[in-house]
Amino acid sequence: MKLVGLSFRDFRNLAEVDASPHPQFTVIAGENGQGKTNLLEGIYLPLTLRPLRPARPRDLVRAGTERGRLSLKLDRGGVTEVLDVALDPTGRELRQNGKAPADLGSWFEGATVVAFTPDDLGVVRGGPDRRRRFLDRAVFNRWPIYLQESRDYQRLLRSRNELLRGRAAAEVRESFEIPLARAAARLVARRRALLAEIAPHLASAFDRVARVPGGLEVDYAGPPEADEAGVEDWLRRELDLRLPTDIERGFTSVGPHADDLRFRIGGLDGRRFASQGQARALVLALKIAEIENLRARLGFPPLLLLDDVSSELDPERNRQLLDHLGDLPGQVLLTTTDPGPLLTRLGGRSVLWRVAAGDVRTAE
Ligand SMILES: Nc1ncnc2c1ncn2[C@@H]1O[C@H](COP(=O)(O)OP(=O)(O)O)[C@@H](O)[C@H]1O
Ligand SMILES: [Mg+2]
Repeated sequence: MKLVGLSFRDFRNLAEVDASPHPQFTVIAGENGQGKTNLLEGIYLPLTLRPLRPARPRDLVRAGTERGRLSLKLDRGGVTEVLDVALDPTGRELRQNGKAPADLGSWFEGATVVAFTPDDLGVVRGGPDRRRRFLDRAVFNRWPIYLQESRDYQRLLRSRNELLRGRAAAEVRESFEIPLARAAARLVARRRALLAEIAPHLASAFDRVARVPGGLEVDYAGPPEADEAGVEDWLRRELDLRLPTDIERGFTSVGPHADDLRFRIGGLDGRRFASQGQARALVLALKIAEIENLRARLGFPPLLLLDDVSSELDPERNRQLLDHLGDLPGQVLLTTTDPGPLLTRLGGRSVLWRVAAGDVRTAE
């Protein structure tokens, strides 16, 4: 997939943007607060139907206006597709080639995007929710149906929690626990499958980036290793065992919403012991592994959005990132306050956009 054009109206501080990215590198430059991240957010949202950073619908529409629009023109193997998202303060409406999309499968088909933002640097040392979010996005990229599967799970989980708080009759609660455990086992299986796929890429990327050969171990902290039916059975039993405390607290204490990823670097718990440099190396390695795996599995590299990442990495990691990007046959859009070094490096394979006060211009 290539992003060949974008047209935004009244999205965040971007009143009117019409632009065509370069097939390889688009460098988005500007001072802080001008709209660079907004631009990436406007690309990320239609492609994933998830926000790049948490936001309410009304935050997305330009202040003082009632409606906004994000329109992306994609080239999917020679076929042009237009994805439109109309935004208003209450929600959004989707159009694929001018029509309501039949299903989200056709919407997401071939539209694979990986974003890397300064916020991702919290994946290693932040709370478990950060690691789950990283993992969930990676799983969704690999298997878009995961979006529906996790929504199904979240819905069942909310229902069970409500029933716990309402002290509902056992039969009613149990009628939710059966599908809940099944949906939960599905998510766990997807997450483990993704980890198994990226493991070899991750190990070699980390060795390259951190120069600690064999130093990284990753595992999924959740139900014991078993097939999907085995995990489902285990969860059913666990829900039973924990019922008294779950009723007391009013929420479900076991399941993929409470699982975590465990990193060990040189045998030590990454969350507690990783140095700042190791944490950065690991996050960079996770992103590179995800990209390499997608490229190997899907047969094409994902669209890559890098938000101000070079300001967060040290010079050595920056060089490694650029080396990796330089070799990547895919399309990359990246924001920076200092485009000079990037342009020197990327030369004729790039275009420069300048963003100032929500206005985007292609620089010559
Ligand atoms: N709904 C909105 N309407 C108008 N301006 C907005 C809206 N949402 C965000 N902004 C403005 O966008 C600017 C930040 O843009 P951002 O893309 O984060 O900047 P940067 O170039 O530093 O990445 C801020 O000035 C903020 O006030
Ligand atoms: Mg920004």
